[in-house]
Amino acid sequence: MRTHHPAPIRAAIASLPGSKIREVSLAGANLPDLIPLWFGEGDEPTPAFIREAAKAALDRGETFYAPNAGVPALRQAIAAYLGRLYGRDFALERITVTGSGMNAIMLAMQMLVGEGDNAVIVEPMWPNARESVRIMGAEPRACVLEPGNDGWRLDPDRLAALCDARTRVIFVNSPGNPTGWMMSTEEQRALLAFARARGIWIVADEVYARIVYDRPHAPSFLEVAGPDDPVIVVNSFSKAWSMTGWRLGWITAPASLAPVLGNLNEFNISHPTTFAQAGAVAALEQGEPYVAALCRRYGEARELTLARLGSFRRVRLTRPEAAFYAFFAVDGVRDSLAFCKELLRSAGVGLAPGIAFGPAGEGYVRLCHACSLPRLEQALDRLAGVLDG
Ligand SMILES: Cc1ncc(COP(=O)(O)O)c(C=O)c1O
Repeated sequence: MRTHHPAPIRAAIASLPGSKIREVSLAGANLPDLIPLWFGEGDEPTPAFIREAAKAALDRGETFYAPNAGVPALRQAIAAYLGRLYGRDFALERITVTGSGMNAIMLAMQMLVGEGDNAVIVEPMWPNARESVRIMGAEPRACVLEPGNDGWRLDPDRLAALCDARTRVIFVNSPGNPTGWMMSTEEQRALLAFARARGIWIVADEVYARIVYDRPHAPSFLEVAGPDDPVIVVNSFSKAWSMTGWRLGWITAPASLAPVLGNLNEFNISHPTTFAQAGAVAALEQGEPYVAALCRRYGEARELTLARLGSFRRVRLTRPEAAFYAFFAVDGVRDSLAFCKELLRSAGVGLAPGIAFGPAGEGYVRLCHACSLPRLEQALDRLAGVLDG
């Protein structure tokens, strides 16, 4: 059905598809006793020490406009945090605070792609990167990961073949949502060499950098790239510090982009919420024990999820290396959106349909295991009826 607007809107916006994850969540919104595992977030509120820091900032009257790039204390805290994590120095000018990881992706696309350009995106991938490219009137091109018994694999030749003279961005999300795919340092070095040689930006979405189970952090482009390489790293406070509702993230980029990103912030949101940034400072400066405990908790949930799902007759599962999702194929499922809607009633569990993550995700579903063990166990018991029947 065509929608009629009072006056024309841009074709690229009119044709944007809605998020299919949201579509399932809306279909399940009023069902009683549903266990929702569709979104990428934990089931606990932001820890008290972060909330208190933001409350204190409010009480100090930090309710005014602030600098475009973020409050200096937070930019410094981010630079220091990255320095501790990766053992390198990060100049303050390389850091721009953004109104979420999603907003950081959008700013990167506003800066890098326009009509006639294309961005190569490694998929299956959280849909929002693809749509941010479309919003800019550019073409997203999927470079599809290959599923294998020992994990998902990126074929660098396939990726190179998708790049042409109008490719401005290679978008990689590692650790990946929904696959849990994690790029190795060697793969990152090789991709960086390719991007340098071709003059293409790498936009590296590293919002799950800390959601790892056998190491302190995932391999990062910030470890292999020099300060002036064509690399933009997107990060977020949402996942590792349980701050999804705060809408705070940051970009690490070459210092030459600082004025450009400051301007983009100015003309999008001016700057992220002033008092919320005080909470983010606390997250970085006091948050390491919290992040470690979170990963232990999610790690237990992950083992339970993989063991149970792996035993279900209809499930084919590749062990994720990181992040907090199980992304699995279900025998007999051709329409993952219809299947997830059906599951709402047949199992009372809300999952995300694989098709939301690009055509390569069809036949798969995603379960977010960032929740308490008893609740997860209950969800898996319910799923057994459908997936092990
Ligand atoms: C891969 C990836 N990137 C970015 C984001 C955005 O996170 P936020 O906008 O909450 O910072 C998400 C959230 O689910 C994600 O999965």
